[in-house]
Amino acid sequence: MEVQQIASLADFQTIIDARRSYRMYDTTYDMPEEIVANALEAALLSPNSSNMQMWEFVRVRSTDMKEKMHDICLGQSAAKSASEFVVVVARANAWKERAAFNYQSLENEYGRDSEQFKKVSQYYGKLMPFIYRNDYFGIIGGVRKLITGVMGLFKPTVHQVSKKDILASIHGSNSLAAMTFMYAMKAQGYDTCPLGGFDSKRLKKLLKLKSSDEVTMVITCGKGVAEGVWGKRHRVAYNEVVRSV
Ligand SMILES: Cc1cc2nc3c(=O)[nH]c(=O)nc-3n(C[C@H](O)[C@H](O)[C@H](O)COP(=O)(O)O)c2cc1C
Repeated sequence: MEVQQIASLADFQTIIDARRSYRMYDTTYDMPEEIVANALEAALLSPNSSNMQMWEFVRVRSTDMKEKMHDICLGQSAAKSASEFVVVVARANAWKERAAFNYQSLENEYGRDSEQFKKVSQYYGKLMPFIYRNDYFGIIGGVRKLITGVMGLFKPTVHQVSKKDILASIHGSNSLAAMTFMYAMKAQGYDTCPLGGFDSKRLKKLLKLKSSDEVTMVITCGKGVAEGVWGKRHRVAYNEVVRSV
């Protein structure tokens, strides 16, 4: 089968080159509400582990809340003039609803008695609850780790099954969604800055998140101004970070 080029790499490269982390935005500009909504719709199509979509995106738009966000983001300049914040949340306890969602969607797609559904219903009905279920102390995850450790003696096995591992996997999927979001913002002409520098405890309290939730990233958004970009891009050379085996 021939490879079909569905969009030019040059066009995509234009977006990659233009996306920079902006630490200052135009405060006189009123960013239309739908810009972030469009980019979030794109982000929802991001690849994510087992299609479990263990994410939530919290939009922060009011002046009062944005001031609090600036403080929680340690007074950073990128958080001072943003038109909007998007907080990407890892919802570790959403697995029941998400597994049920997938189960139902696949039943609707294939039909209850089909062979395909029998296979995937095991996956979402049994395996996903087994992998994602956790308790406060991580004991269930520890037991899972023991089981996979023994299984791994006999065949290739996924070993990243502790409570911490599962959270890391959710943050991984969420980060892909964050990236899609930032490119979709840039494709519409707008700018972003991903932030890891924030007080996670105060942020959880402000957004009324559950104790089991974790914040993957804060993303500031707006119409960037030229001074908002801090110099040229410096990246380690291809050959230093890419190797073939
Ligand atoms: C996970 C993550 C956390 C980051 N945290 C911050 C931050 O707290 N403050 C900030 O100004 N930039 C932050 N950045 C932006 C990086 O500094 C920036 O992406 C990097 O310097 C490369 O520049 P570029 O995005 O313009 O290509 C963060 C980026 C990522 C991916």
